[in-house]
Amino acid sequence: MSIDARWPLEAGQYEIHRRIGKGAFSIVRYATCRTNSLKVAIKALDLESVSTSFDDILTEVQTMKLCMHDNVLKCHCSFVAGAQLWLITEYMDRGSCCRVLSAAKAQIANYGEGMDEDWVAYILNRTLQGLEYLHEKGHIHRDIKCGNILLDSQGGVRLADFGTNLNIQPSSLYLSSLHASCRGHGVDD
Ligand SMILES: Nc1ncnc2c1ncn2[C@@H]1O[C@H](COP(=O)(O)OP(=O)(O)OP(=O)(O)O)[C@@H](O)[C@H]1O
Ligand SMILES: [Mg+2]
Repeated sequence: MSIDARWPLEAGQYEIHRRIGKGAFSIVRYATCRTNSLKVAIKALDLESVSTSFDDILTEVQTMKLCMHDNVLKCHCSFVAGAQLWLITEYMDRGSCCRVLSAAKAQIANYGEGMDEDWVAYILNRTLQGLEYLHEKGHIHRDIKCGNILLDSQGGVRLADFGTNLNIQPSSLYLSSLHASCRGHGVDD
């Protein structure tokens, strides 16, 4: 696959503004690409602490790069920087649903729990469209959670993180679901 020249593969080509999140094996930062002036999120994955093999990680990243849907987070490029793998992705200025919920709780007195039902319906509708797209391409996400549903101020909703994704062919998808339902009816593999 050809390298997209719009996205430099060097850490120095990204101006980092601030840290916006932290996952189990990663730190996410908000930055601007010096080459094209676009805002990005940089997810720096600590390669020494992840248990997945480097080849498997690269396969996952490749999957991400090939996905193109309004409700799936776009990965522009990736490269190794020191002991980290940097994923350069779209920047979602409201962060994850998780972050929006904790911000609402912190800022609004007596906010209570959860989100307005209309918002839940809107976000779920978009999330499911992203998920449907992934399934049509033969991918299983496997880590759907509010930390992986990202929002922006234009009403954009994108499903992120293929960290525990399994890349499977439609035929094996059919077979595994068949096996699962056989198991459910007491039939051995
Ligand atoms: N592209 C992005 N744009 C804006 N904010 C982001 C983006 N990606 C991640 N974040 C923020 O960074 C936080 C951490 O993301 P990360 O994927 O590293 O961990 P997580 O999904 O919350 O948990 P884990 O990966 O450990 O299971 C997210 O919850 C979100 O608030
Ligand atoms: Mg995540």
